[in-house]
Amino acid sequence: MPRILVTGGAGYVGSHTVIELINYKFEVVAVDNMVNAIMGGKGKPESLARVEKLTGGVVDFEQVDILNENELEQVFANKGPFDCVIHFAALKAVGESCKLPLRYYRNNVIGSINLLEAMSRHNCKNIVFSSSATVYGPPQYLPIDEKHPIGSCTNPYGKTKFMIEEIMHDMCLADPEWKAIMLRYFNPVGSHPSGEIGEDPCGIPNNLMPYISQVAVGKRPCLQVYGNDYETKDGTGVRDYIHVMDLAEGHVAAVRKSLDKDFQGWTAYNLGTGQGNSVLEVVSAYEKASEKNVPYEFMPRRGGDIASSFADCSRAEKELNWKAKKSIHDMCADAWRWQSNNPNGFQIP
Ligand code: NAD
Ligand code: UD1
Repeated sequence: MPRILVTGGAGYVGSHTVIELINYKFEVVAVDNMVNAIMGGKGKPESLARVEKLTGGVVDFEQVDILNENELEQVFANKGPFDCVIHFAALKAVGESCKLPLRYYRNNVIGSINLLEAMSRHNCKNIVFSSSATVYGPPQYLPIDEKHPIGSCTNPYGKTKFMIEEIMHDMCLADPEWKAIMLRYFNPVGSHPSGEIGEDPCGIPNNLMPYISQVAVGKRPCLQVYGNDYETKDGTGVRDYIHVMDLAEGHVAAVRKSLDKDFQGWTAYNLGTGQGNSVLEVVSAYEKASEKNVPYEFMPRRGGDIASSFADCSRAEKELNWKAKKSIHDMCADAWRWQSNNPNGFQIP
């Protein structure tokens, strides 16, 4: 069975993807430095302990910081060889990246270079990278396809994603044995349908769905809706929300593609649903799914926000044979199940 190294495997998208990898019978080694994840008993992240419970599988975990070259080397030497690496490990808070740009460039860019060097040393030249729709910057047209220009990102976080994509592209140009697949996520939301694992933001959530979840469960009084004067169907921002389990399946499809002997070089895929939903549509879907009231108030636009963003996912459908299946109702129902069963996330009170 193919053996996959997953960096950032204890995090939100990583832990959901590990479930799908185990379901598809891949062997998984996960590493994470736990900067944005919670350790459970027995030295294993709580998210991955729950993944093991859900799947009946085993996740071989090592607490490793990808900034530490020696630790990374030990993983490749002791746990390899790996057929492919899925690289999730990163810092991802846009606002924080504007305040602490060097922390973001060091962690995300230098961490990725360390990983690519360790891979080269161990002759593992297949990588699937967690990129983001943020690399497109403000959309020049909609829906956004992969031919849309990239690089005009407005914040250091987004720029790290663009830089890492470029570094991987250059590696593929320099050495035809490298295979690198960029997955550009639109807006991942929801949780595993069991409600056992989900998104567990520290502090005040920056993103819409976790904020709505905390209002619905009574942890926060009211949602602030940033802007009701956009040129959209109801004046509020429109985004392409994608269920995290659909995203997880997209990763399995990308790993399979990278293992295909006919695939070569560097490529990028959008992972979204192709549908745009406004903030008010998400609020309404969440209220229906949770049977809770979500009070909201209108506020001025948030700096750096755009009116609308949604994906053309036809390349992923054609080349990865992947398509998102879950609806906005599924996303809200599963987010609610996770939130209401775990009001304090992975932290056991
Ligand atoms: P997350 O914070 O839940 O997961 C990232 C994991 O990486 C965390 O567990 C963190 O502890 C770990 N990590 C960070 N720096 C590390 C380091 N130096 N060494 C080892 N581990 C480290 O975030 P997520 O939402 O699961 O995002 C996963 C990836 O997807 C990230 O690269 C993120 O930028 C990208 N992404 C996420 C979204 C989103 O909305 N969630 C959208 C687009 C792209
Ligand atoms: C944000 C990031 C983006 C990242 C993406 C990943 C910013 C500026 N951008 O994008 O770089 O790739 O997450 O998922 O942080 N909203 C509210 N109230 C809230 C929160 C959000 O009204 O409390 C609105 C926003 O204005 C937006 C929509 O909800 O219209 C979605 O916001 P969010 O979930 O933060 O995602 P993005 O802005 O798309």
